[in-house]
Amino acid sequence: MRVTVLGGKGLLGSRLIPLLDEVGNDVTVASRSAGAKVDLETGEGLEQAVEDADIVVHLASDPRKPRKVDVAGTARLLDALDGQHVFYLSIVGVDRHPFSYYQAKHEAEQLITQSRLPYTILRATQFHDFVAYFLGAAVRYPVALVPKRFVFQPVDTDEVARELATLIHTRRPGLQPDFAGPEVHTAEHLARTLMTAMGKRRMMINLPVPGDSARAFRAGAHTNPEQAVGRRTWNEYLEERFQHSR
Ligand SMILES: NC(=O)c1ccc[n+]([C@@H]2O[C@H](COP(=O)([O-])OP(=O)(O)OC[C@H]3O[C@@H](n4cnc5c(N)ncnc54)[C@H](OP(=O)(O)O)[C@@H]3O)[C@@H](O)[C@H]2O)c1
Repeated sequence: MRVTVLGGKGLLGSRLIPLLDEVGNDVTVASRSAGAKVDLETGEGLEQAVEDADIVVHLASDPRKPRKVDVAGTARLLDALDGQHVFYLSIVGVDRHPFSYYQAKHEAEQLITQSRLPYTILRATQFHDFVAYFLGAAVRYPVALVPKRFVFQPVDTDEVARELATLIHTRRPGLQPDFAGPEVHTAEHLARTLMTAMGKRRMMINLPVPGDSARAFRAGAHTNPEQAVGRRTWNEYLEERFQHSR
């Protein structure tokens, strides 16, 4: 199959591409910095990147400009398609979480489901790599500021990539069951264990965060313990990732 992966140079795309390559797909990686130059914000390069594709995997996202890239960009992508099956990676809880980025992802989902194109949507929880990156930034400073009582259910990036590759190869249509990690943890626990794994000692302040989005992050609107299908735990991830750096 000819597969165009939009946003294929990101955390998930870089794990997915080898899985698509190894079974002989003809894969085009498209984004602003990829071989096929595409900017979803302007539409530049979009038509050429998708015109020969049988399947389009949409992983492109910009949390700093979600309305322009995730919503308007997805609308632009759907306009450029001509019957191709579109695979979209979304986030667990976007249909009930007020965080503006998640709302934008939900709007993008709705554009896809209303498009009359064949589609598959997979919602995952936060990737281990993303949580490590996000909290890694917090523990870079002498005092680590961590949002108080926020919870996350991190999932392994490779496991999500494998699930998505299976969906692509079987072309299973529709909104799929949530793909959530094996355990729910507080941000405080995740940050402390990350610090230990990185061999860092920091004072940590659990920062109370006001507002509806923060309340939803505390209540776990972006988690789904009943769909804890991911196998690799946060501790296993940390052990493997940081074993050489200690
Ligand atoms: N990270 C998580 O924990 C997580 C969890 C669940 C679902 N998801 C979803 O999974 C998808 C992939 O996530 P990820 O973590 O792999 O993302 P990522 O690492 O941030 O990669 C995003 C990709 O989007 C591309 N991109 C950004 N702006 C663009 C634009 N204007 N035009 C074209 N391409 C653009 C980037 O490439 P260039 O910079 O080269 O343009 C990059 O390849 C996203 O939709 C995200 O919402 C992520």
